[in-house]
Amino acid sequence: MAAPKALVAGNWKMNGLTASVDQIEKLNALVTEGSVGCDILICPPATLISALSGKGIDIGAQDCHMNVSGAHTGDISAAMLKDLGCHYVIVGHSERRADHGETNDTVKAKAKAVQEQGLTAIICVGETDEEREKGETLDVVTSQVVGSIPENASADNTVIAYEPVWAIGTGKVPTTNDVAEVHAVIRSLLLDRFGDAGEMVRIQYGGSVKASNASELMSVANVNGALVGGASLKAEDFYGIIKTYQ
Ligand code: PGA
Repeated sequence: MAAPKALVAGNWKMNGLTASVDQIEKLNALVTEGSVGCDILICPPATLISALSGKGIDIGAQDCHMNVSGAHTGDISAAMLKDLGCHYVIVGHSERRADHGETNDTVKAKAKAVQEQGLTAIICVGETDEEREKGETLDVVTSQVVGSIPENASADNTVIAYEPVWAIGTGKVPTTNDVAEVHAVIRSLLLDRFGDAGEMVRIQYGGSVKASNASELMSVANVNGALVGGASLKAEDFYGIIKTYQ
């Protein structure tokens, strides 16, 4: 079976000022020198999207509102992100699910808004430590995947990021067996949902990915790239992960 081209995406979260343009320029120089076999994306804070666009690296967003426009002070729509040249929007990151009370229904509505603009939604799923301890990982991930993919989604405009909440920013990572088990379940849900095309949906792993563990994690079956937080902030660190796909 054909495998999808990996997508290594950096999520800068609420980090970065205009001086971070340097990092994008450095990253582009590194990527241009090396021969890289994956797609690369940086999702900076919305304030930096314009400044970082057009510098050779694909730029995406970390969230959007579910409506196209209207009276929603402080929010940003997928149409606005498209207008800035974004091709991808992360939705349902665990920090948004936790800090902003986003439910699967919210995430689904946001993913729909993204896809209706012709953009790709990176839909994040993952269990908390407590859920893992209780042996609920597969149930939680299944209900998040099933509940967060919009009805009209296609295999082309959907990416799933599996990010165990307890692994985010902690330096802890699941075993490769655990990653393989969860990704296999996600793959079978995608095959149920999209038929054969589900084979080509990218399933990223995220949570404490760094250069030193990337090749092990990225070689697991059904892992088609990474969603990277802390290690995406510096070009050299992020490139260390990207190089896994050389
Ligand atoms: P981390 O974050 O790489 O810093 O663990 C991952 C994420 O939240 O996407």
